[in-house]
Parts: sequence; structure tokens; C-alpha cells
Amino acid sequence: MILLGIETSCDETSCSIIRNGVVLSNIVKTQDIHQSFGGVVPDLASKDHEKKILPIVHESINKANIKLTDLDGIAVTYGAGLLGSLIVGLNFAKGLSVALNIPLIPISHLEGHLSSGFINKTPRFPSISLIVSGGHTQIWLIEDIDRFKVLSNTVDDAAGEAFDKGARILGLGYPGGPEIEKLARTGNPLKYNFPLPEVKNNKFNFSFSGLKTALLYKKQKLDNLDNYSINDLAASYQHAIVHSLLNKLERVLRDYKIYNVMIVGGVSANLYFREIAQDLQKKYNLNLIFPDLEYCTDNAAMIAMAGYLKLLKENKTDLSIEPNPNIVYQ
Ligand code: KG4
Ligand code: ZN
Repeated sequence: MILLGIETSCDETSCSIIRNGVVLSNIVKTQDIHQSFGGVVPDLASKDHEKKILPIVHESINKANIKLTDLDGIAVTYGAGLLGSLIVGLNFAKGLSVALNIPLIPISHLEGHLSSGFINKTPRFPSISLIVSGGHTQIWLIEDIDRFKVLSNTVDDAAGEAFDKGARILGLGYPGGPEIEKLARTGNPLKYNFPLPEVKNNKFNFSFSGLKTALLYKKQKLDNLDNYSINDLAASYQHAIVHSLLNKLERVLRDYKIYNVMIVGGVSANLYFREIAQDLQKKYNLNLIFPDLEYCTDNAAMIAMAGYLKLLKENKTDLSIEPNPNIVYQ
């Protein structure tokens, strides 16, 4: 079964071809037009998707060495994300699905991230999945591919947002995660102490806004002293985010006694996070899956994989699907 995946929910235009769950191509073009604005400008994003989507579909098909008519289905992100950006991908996919008379499989972006753990890996169930991206920080209990429950959420910022906002405070570029990670490599993660955030009434929930404020105050204080290493500050802040994520994850593992774990989403690309997670892996003998690096941040292969898993269960097309910028799982 050969599927085309399309992902245009934010500022990445991405198309991928997978055959029976194996990735043949995964083209991701990140829009650099937003850099001078310090964040994604929705109108510019949708316009750029419109310009790039057809060439990228062609590129993914050529790289996979297949023909358009070889496709058995199209998986496309219908939400959450920017409305205009979602419309571009979804309408393109609908048109192609009608033209080729093949199923259209609508996929939620979060389902896509969860499915990234299936690419080149074999997850076991039940599984505890931690999703850490720019928009989400959640822990899911996944009983089976289509049976899940959200156990934990963030009450304010997502972990990726904490990296992005922290990077802005430190005067670094966007996206902030890779920038902080780069500086932190030569910094001391234990130099500065940040509080481990606790959330009232839910020991599994996350909170990152206090951490970001603590970073702001710490930097202001250090700026006055005028003699410190920004690398130490970045490393200590990164340590605090990672520590908070793993601390809450450990509480869930202890309570649920489930030791199959997946950690997915943009922040899961962080190598320091992966390294520290090994301690948890050893302590509980976890069957721990991180996606391959190219499938952590937004990409269409994860959408195609989610479509493949769905098609294995039911071969159903849905052309009535509308874009949904705010899909909420709780
Ligand atoms: O999953 P993703 O590409 O998009 C969303 O669905 O949000 O995640 C993007 C987020 C950004 O906040 C970015 O700063 C963060 O993931 N990120 C990282 C790293 N790479 C991306 N955070 C920490 N370390 C990284 N290496
Ligand atoms: Zn994402």
C-alpha cells in the first residue's frame, strides 16, 4: 500500500511517500519568511504553502521513484493548526483524492506526532506517550492504536514554548529549542537552580510559565553583575525543563506500572533530553522509543504513517472533513 502524506498545519510544507509503513521520501521545507517577524505570520504561511505544495508533492514522488497513479491513498493534516495553512493542504489532498479516485484519510496533527514513534520502530501496548511540541505537552495512555486517554496536560505553556520564550529572553533566534540546546552543550546544567514547577490538584500536570519568569529574573540579576556565562544559564534552563518533563513522566509510570514509553514531538529531538531519559530507562527497564530525529519536528511521514495505521483498520474515505484549527484532546 503506497500513501502520500501532506502536512501544512503551520510553517512547514511537507510531503512524504510511504510504502507499507516504510518511508520512501519525506520532504520538509521550512518557511524562513517569518524570521524577521519573530513568529509565524498566518497569511504569509498559507500563501507560501500554496506556492510550494505542488512542487513538493512532485519532489516526494520523484524521490520515492513512483508515479502519481501508484498511490493508494492520501493522508492529510486537518487540524490543529493555522486555518489558512490547513486549508491549503486539505483542499489539495481532496482534489487529488477525487482525481485519482483514492481514499482521503484526515489525520490530526497530534495523532501524527504519536505515529512518528512507529516509523522504523515497533511500539508495544499499552504504552505511555509523552508528546512535547511547540503547542502541546501531554501524557497519553495508549491501550491500542485507536484507544487512548489523556492523563496529563500543561496548565500554561507547552515545553517547546518554554524553549522558544526562554530563547527570546536569552536573545537567541527562533525556534528556540535548537538554539538553547546548542549553547547548553558547553554550559554547566547545574550552575543555576530553577524551581521544579508543581500544579495544584494534579501531580501529573505540567507548568512552564513560572520557569520562564524565573529565567527572566535570573538573567536580569546576572546582567547587573556583568560576569556570567550565557551558556551556563541556557544549560541550567534546559536542565530544568527536561527534569520537569521526566519527573512528571516518572510519576505516571510509577502509578500506572506501564513500562512501554514513547516520547515524541519537536522537543524530543533534544539530545540532552534523550541522554537524561536514559537514566529513567535504566531505572525502570523501559522499552523506550524516541522517533528518529527527522520525524520529531513537523513532517509528513508521521501523517502518512498515521494514515497507514488507520487504513489497516478501516478503508474509509472522508471528503466532508473540514479544517479544524483547535482540536482539543483532554
Ligand atoms: O512538533 P513541532 O515541530 O511543532 C509543533 O507541533 O509545535 O515542535 C516545535 C517545537 C518548537 O517549540 C521548538 O523550539 C522545539 O519544538 N524544538 C526543540 C528542539 N527542536 C525543536 N526543543 C528543544 N530541543 C530541540 N532540539
Ligand atoms: Zn508538531
